[in-house]
Amino acid sequence: MKRHLIAIAGRKGGVGKTTTACGLASIFASQKYKVLIIDLDPQSNAGYVLGTDPTAPGTVELLQGKKPIPIKASENLYVLPGGPNLAGHTIQSLDPLDLADAIESLQYDVIIFDCPPGVEYLERLGLVAAKIALICTDAHPLAVMGASRVIQDLQVRQKKNRKGASRLGLILSRIDLRRSMDQSLDQQLAEAYPSIKRFIIHQDASLAWAAAERVPLIEYDSKGKAANDLMTVSNWVVNE
Ligand SMILES: Nc1ncnc2c1ncn2[C@@H]1O[C@H](COP(=O)(O)OP(=O)(O)O)[C@@H](O)[C@H]1O
Ligand SMILES: [Mg+2]
Repeated sequence: MKRHLIAIAGRKGGVGKTTTACGLASIFASQKYKVLIIDLDPQSNAGYVLGTDPTAPGTVELLQGKKPIPIKASENLYVLPGGPNLAGHTIQSLDPLDLADAIESLQYDVIIFDCPPGVEYLERLGLVAAKIALICTDAHPLAVMGASRVIQDLQVRQKKNRKGASRLGLILSRIDLRRSMDQSLDQQLAEAYPSIKRFIIHQDASLAWAAAERVPLIEYDSKGKAANDLMTVSNWVVNE
């Protein structure tokens, strides 16, 4: 089976990266793919949201070559938590290719890198290890600016023929079409990035509740708006 390597990035915080990463992981796992989330955030939100111990050995140990055992969050769904040591000197001085190398021998059908906000060397590890980048933004101009920077960095890498995600998707996150700012976001991104596929994830309380109750989305609400939106993303990942 083909391995899908997906980085979820956005540079700005609070734009739905972790929610998208965990929701998508839950959908893939329910479709019988064996899924691993690699949490690249010093705050370890993905580990927490999936109900595992966010302080257990995880991404740091993987990057140090220690072969940590991913924690099982639910059927087919595993996580390597992040943690404050991701911000330490040893990780900061890694080569951008080190995560790509570290995942070579991992036996999963889907690996999702949940990138942190702001910390570019950690985000880069994920973007370089991935084949697909899903770039999250909400309608706020600062979020759009953060997403643009990620896209620009990836396009520069591509031009230089450097390793990194080459298939891009834009995740328009927390969309409520009653808000005028949300209404214009799709058009704005279509004009700026006509060749990048766009996906809308509606504002849906079930996503926030699944995270708060630390339950995978599909177990919390498999038929809601957000689950449906994320299913469109998972189909695109697998079918194109
Ligand atoms: N589509 C959505 N509908 C409702 N709440 C959302 C949605 N996406 C994200 N949230 C909420 O927004 C907050 C920030 O999301 P999060 O995924 O943690 O952002 P990031 O990882 O980009 O910092 C969380 O409280 C999350 O539950
Ligand atoms: Mg996050």
